[in-house]
Amino acid sequence: MDSVKIKIDQLREELNRHNYNYYVLNTPEISDYNFDMKMKELERLESSYPQFDDPYSPTHRVGSDISKGFTQWIHKRPMLSLGNTYSMEEVDDFVRRVKDGLMGEQVQIVGELKYDGTSISLSYEHGRLVRAVTRGDGTQGDVVTDNIVTIKSIPLQLQGEGWPDEFEIRGEIVLPWKEFDRLNAEREFNEEPLFANPRNAASGTLKLQNSSEVARRGLDAVFYYLLGDNLPADNHYDNMMAARKWGFKVAPVMTLMTSTKEVGDFISYWDIKRKELPVATDGLVFKVNDLRQQLNLGYTAKSPRWATAYKFQAERALTELKFVSFEVGRMGIVTPVANLEPVLLSGTIVKRASLHNEDIIKQLDIHDGDMLYVEKGGEIIPKITGVELSRRKFGSETVKFVKDCPVCGTPLVRIEGEAAWMCPNKTGCAPQICGRIEHFVGRRMMNIDGIGEEMAAILYENGWVSDPSDLYELERYRAEMLKLQGMGPRTIDRMIEGVENSKNVPFDRVLYALSIPYLGETSSKKVAKALRNIDAVMNADNETLCSIDDIGPRIAQSIREYFSIPSNRNMVGRLQSFGLQMALPDNTAASGSEVLAGKSIVVSGTFNKRSRDEYKEMIELNGGKNVGSVSKKTDFILAGENMGPSKLDKAKSLGIPLVDEDSFLKMISGQN
Ligand code: IVH
Repeated sequence: MDSVKIKIDQLREELNRHNYNYYVLNTPEISDYNFDMKMKELERLESSYPQFDDPYSPTHRVGSDISKGFTQWIHKRPMLSLGNTYSMEEVDDFVRRVKDGLMGEQVQIVGELKYDGTSISLSYEHGRLVRAVTRGDGTQGDVVTDNIVTIKSIPLQLQGEGWPDEFEIRGEIVLPWKEFDRLNAEREFNEEPLFANPRNAASGTLKLQNSSEVARRGLDAVFYYLLGDNLPADNHYDNMMAARKWGFKVAPVMTLMTSTKEVGDFISYWDIKRKELPVATDGLVFKVNDLRQQLNLGYTAKSPRWATAYKFQAERALTELKFVSFEVGRMGIVTPVANLEPVLLSGTIVKRASLHNEDIIKQLDIHDGDMLYVEKGGEIIPKITGVELSRRKFGSETVKFVKDCPVCGTPLVRIEGEAAWMCPNKTGCAPQICGRIEHFVGRRMMNIDGIGEEMAAILYENGWVSDPSDLYELERYRAEMLKLQGMGPRTIDRMIEGVENSKNVPFDRVLYALSIPYLGETSSKKVAKALRNIDAVMNADNETLCSIDDIGPRIAQSIREYFSIPSNRNMVGRLQSFGLQMALPDNTAASGSEVLAGKSIVVSGTFNKRSRDEYKEMIELNGGKNVGSVSKKTDFILAGENMGPSKLDKAKSLGIPLVDEDSFLKMISGQN
């Protein structure tokens, strides 16, 4: 009996931890399938041993996504979850239970896609959106109306007729694959942590405090449930069709079925077809269509008896671990990578998968030569989810994280408060040096053409470049370079020309190019704008740095550490002597002042004198705010050629002035 109690406690502790990782941190560590299996096991144990029941058990809650900073709202009708099924048989059981519950009445089932986003409840009064609330813990959630109104497909005012004076509509906030890929590419570039899947990206975005950033991210919404007292029809399907006429983006797949054969066909069809959908789905949902029958069937404490979810199996493969390699990045962080016996998974061959850090290796308890499960579900990046213990080789050793840098041999240090180990040999460890050179020449930094990963390594290995400042003396090695196979005069000219042009790159990008840990593209801009020149940055104390917008103690400390290292100061001095921009020009300080302070400006169309990005930068430097779409709050539109017709129409209808590039340049140079 004691052992049962121990097992129950262990499962509760584990599920609580996973709930926290999932809902609060947005970084799940196990697959939904494994989570559900553990939950089912706990439910089974609790119902067989009711003496161990506890109102605080994770089986009694639906998870919480409540976060600080939003007002709470108690749902008029709780937002429940759905029971899960994993096979055709379990769905058949559901249909049978429904029929039994209705004493054999005829039943119509509606089949839908299960969108993998984050659920939302919208309330409308007299045809207008009054509130948007997240699921929260099912009873109360966060009011996120300001963020929701940035989603263009959500109607603020309904069209047509026949809506009840008051009703609620529920659906899913989703981030389409295209937007998800774009967002992650951007984050990868800025060295920000990637979103594991569109679901995390959508829920993370919905909880941002800054709604203009929400607007930029491309969220969308699909609706699948109408609730209220005076709905137009007595069945789910017709109600959703009515909602579609009122302007809602109702889930496009709603299939009416009457036989288990049709249900089976629906599952087989979507198991395959879902891969072609533009948004992530993690299963199907089956609902009883008739509202009276729904009412008769009722609810359990957690979910309706009239609906169930069928979860797609994440694609999973079992393959052998050949070895774990340890790779060193530009900041010195050492990442363990599982090198696998190649295996086909969701149409691509997987040979390698990141193990992220030491804690993950320990958690999975990976041994040499283990057979590992690799999954690719909602995630695009393959993930190691477990070990097949029955196939563990006798006497195999656990995989140990390296103690020394695998490249230069320096003992690793653990970064305080993080799971990562780092090689501290910044100036003598090849991948770190090459990584910094590569970063320095990158398009958004110094934008030096002709140098990529391979060339950076060649330049370093031959002793021509050992830090970015050496790039400015490449000419000295021309003769030596020409001796190298594949290195012609044109290749060299192109590099040298790129290096020369980079001397015009503005100071904020130079600062970003230096690879100061934690100092990203945006924070570099803020520091440059506040402190104006490199001397001020090098000598800034903690207080000065922390007083800059968006610069916290971690970045401040990192900047100070960077400039306390003599070789870094030396390199920066050399860069300065080669003529790189080490200050923002005075004219932006003067004319840039606050000419556009408090103004919201939309930049639209194509320009001749400066690029669009440059204009956007100028707006910021002069105190204005760039906004993506035209609204009545827009002060003016910086209009180039071929401005989009919808923006133009909107500007006209709202009476917002258009300013051409000449007038704009005059405006910020103070002549206007
Ligand atoms: S109906 C009472 N329909 O799945 C039933 N839910 O585990 C209300 N979901 O919280 C939900 N697609 O976030 C329904 N077509 C669909 C759905 C769907 C995704 C989500 C929703 C819900 C969760 C249930």
